[in-house]
Amino acid sequence: MERLLNSCVSLHLLSKSLDPDKNALYWNTEATSQYLTVGATTSLRGFIRHYKMTMYPLMANLDHAVREGKDQLVRTFDVTSSGLYEKIYEGEDRVETFIGGMHGLAPLASKAVVSAFDLSSFKTVCDFGGGSGNLAYEMSRTYPSMSVKVLELPPVVEVSNHFKPDDAGKLDVEFLAGDFFVDELPEADMYVFSMVFHNWHDDNISRLLQKVHSALKPGGAILIAESLYNDEKTGPVKTAQRCMLMLALCEGKERSAREYRLLLEKNGFSDFKARYTDGLHDVILAKAGESNKGKKGC
Ligand SMILES: C[S@@+](CC[C@H](N)C(=O)[O-])C[C@H]1O[C@@H](n2cnc3c(N)ncnc32)[C@H](O)[C@@H]1O
Repeated sequence: MERLLNSCVSLHLLSKSLDPDKNALYWNTEATSQYLTVGATTSLRGFIRHYKMTMYPLMANLDHAVREGKDQLVRTFDVTSSGLYEKIYEGEDRVETFIGGMHGLAPLASKAVVSAFDLSSFKTVCDFGGGSGNLAYEMSRTYPSMSVKVLELPPVVEVSNHFKPDDAGKLDVEFLAGDFFVDELPEADMYVFSMVFHNWHDDNISRLLQKVHSALKPGGAILIAESLYNDEKTGPVKTAQRCMLMLALCEGKERSAREYRLLLEKNGFSDFKARYTDGLHDVILAKAGESNKGKKGC
């Protein structure tokens, strides 16, 4: 225990002092209280448990992932990539663990995502795979005339009350249970995908982009939050690391702004803009393009 505690001090996770009898006293540093305690609203505990249960076993097969050029879901858990979220949500507490983990990360990202562009002209928004709703609540808080729907898989919607912020009553956010690949998309003038596309192969992203493009109202837009590579794919390091995790986890990968631009343009989007942020994610905004002009909504 003493070795563990001293190691934590060396990592600035704990502080240490000696009392007059030379007994060691340890206490949480500010960062530990904020991010590693169970009760903190910004706790990363769920995220760390997700790593322990899902990511570490997968990364133990990284050598196979590199040789085979594909995810290690079958080898590690005996499920295919289409069953990724069934695996992540399988078993007691697993939804809260994963969504709680994403929820802990979201405050490090949401403010930068909602302010990367002026989104005040968009009144109805749907956040696909919006997790705990953290980004949706932040959008409604920042743009008070915006109404935001979160479309999520049913097990996530079931636990969504658990993550409601104190000011939820003043915010216009609603959860819908569904599957964005299968179900009809709710009407909106902006569709949001945050940390969703990096889970999927280009073919599945094109499938979603075509569906979104034909559902968008005239003048509608898509907002994508992901960690973007530079064009040479030599960094930044946060993106390169996530891309290695995606290699073991799923059929997806991290992409450069140029790659997203090509995917969007191929599927009818235009007016592409990308902003790099100091936060966890970078942000892309694109418009539905010419073919949606004159459409009367979906
Ligand atoms: C990596 S998480 C990102 C969560 C959140 N958007 C964020 O930025 O923190 C991907 C999310 O997509 C949701 N998801 C995956 N497949 C889905 C589907 N077919 N339909 C709706 N949501 C889906 C998952 O439940 C999960 O919450």
